[in-house]
Amino acid sequence: MKRRKEGYFDFEHHHPNAYLERKRNVEQGLHARTKILEVLAMTAPTEAAAAAASNSEEMREDRTELTIKTISESAAMSYSSSFHHLRLLEAEKIVKREGKRPYKWMVTGKGQRSLDEVDLELEVTKMEKELLMIPGPVPVLPRIRKAMSKPMIFHRGDEFGAMYEEIVETLKDIYQTKNDLFVLSGSGTCAMEAAIGNLVGNETKLVCITIANGKFGERFGEIAAKYKADAVTLVNVNFEWGHPIELEAVKEALENSSSSDHKSKIVTMVHNETSTGILNPAKEVGELARKHDAVFVLDCITSIGGDKVPVDELGADIAIVGSQKCLGAPPGLSALSVSKHAWEMIRENERRPYYTDLIAYKKSLEKKQTPYTPALPLFFALHEALAVIREEGMENRIERHRGLAKTVRDAVTGMGLRLFPKLNEVSDYSNTVTAIEIPAANGNITDEQLRGGMRKRGVIVAGGQGKLKGEIFRIATMGNITEKEVLKTIQVLREVLMENEFIEGEGEGLEEGDHNFD
Ligand SMILES: Cc1ncc(COP(=O)(O)O)c(C=O)c1O
Repeated sequence: MKRRKEGYFDFEHHHPNAYLERKRNVEQGLHARTKILEVLAMTAPTEAAAAAASNSEEMREDRTELTIKTISESAAMSYSSSFHHLRLLEAEKIVKREGKRPYKWMVTGKGQRSLDEVDLELEVTKMEKELLMIPGPVPVLPRIRKAMSKPMIFHRGDEFGAMYEEIVETLKDIYQTKNDLFVLSGSGTCAMEAAIGNLVGNETKLVCITIANGKFGERFGEIAAKYKADAVTLVNVNFEWGHPIELEAVKEALENSSSSDHKSKIVTMVHNETSTGILNPAKEVGELARKHDAVFVLDCITSIGGDKVPVDELGADIAIVGSQKCLGAPPGLSALSVSKHAWEMIRENERRPYYTDLIAYKKSLEKKQTPYTPALPLFFALHEALAVIREEGMENRIERHRGLAKTVRDAVTGMGLRLFPKLNEVSDYSNTVTAIEIPAANGNITDEQLRGGMRKRGVIVAGGQGKLKGEIFRIATMGNITEKEVLKTIQVLREVLMENEFIEGEGEGLEEGDHNFD
């Protein structure tokens, strides 16, 4: 059942201009809101800093400086628009820090419509029962789903060849690489295993350094341990999950391995560590790897297609992407690029895996084929998903991903939640998945209350993995979702936080089927 006012469609039909104006107003409102939250986030100290400095004269000075006028100037918005939107945010209890935070304004009266009243007509996912906001699989556009139902074709024929060639060329554009690139019928882990298996099995003395600060970084270490031949030395450079990668430690591991008698080196890292929402320093580690003549394997499974990943510029010898993440396709395929440097090492390896032998993939690609039967429906879908990306343009797509992740970060911190990752000067928050602490430490709200409450309202967000279970939750902003899905998620999160009295206000009661988006 939709939560729409009676007569909504009549309004659109009978007063099209007024309807469009209203829609525009809503869109502008959402834009203004993001800008204001941005200014507040930049200017406002954290709760902890404000508390620590509450007795300081200096801080009191700061507090009095932030007025609607200064906010409107910083956000480059009119005074009246800033006033309205601040009032709206206040009414929603997103900004309610009078006395606690350095906001001076006192706004009264009825604001514009609150987010609750905005009819967030979901575009991408309106036919779906649940809104999937997890870091893959992501919601898949109807036109991409439809592509999967095409009749099967001869996988050694020209039609498949043309399609595969187009997939490979488009992915190379997205990767910004001149290296070879292949698509594997297997999820991201299949490509991770292909990379390690093709590099690590030989009997030449080599050292494999796996850098990790989360679950997926550690996965490389686990795979390498399985494929390791006697001559191979494994070095795990592990950091606490959610903590940044320290370049000094990487440098040290590389330097130590240079002084040993190992002939070649491999360095693995995850670019966008999905388990903790941190963006790792690909460029800097790439430079270190190059300096030590190491083959650099980069898991870009949740960054390629959503963030800037110029593979050749980063010096990634093997770069991996998964279909069900930022590319917006269904799960089941992965792609990886292979540089000349990586080929040299692969060719020396006599014990390459059978199904993912990259030399077999290279030979087949010359005939525009895959060595074994490709998962055709998934190839059709990926082909269509890449057409969607071409239509949007990569620059726009990256902008959209960054904007959506920022909206999530602004909204959750505005509601008093804390982001999980700890950053240093070479790391950043992920632009495709936001990891947020569950404030259970104060006995406020549990994982089940939070994610369960959201699930009951039709929005699925991810929990923490492994040792982070119950500690964090993650909101993904990947693929083809729009601001509307993101705002819906924020709206539902806010309801749940209110219901559990983490923020003030009345949590909305749930009625059967109330939050299905069908
Ligand atoms: C960074 C990263 N690496 C690897 C994987 C594993 O990919 P898959 O589940 O497709 O095998 C994931 C999946 O979430 C991921 O986010």
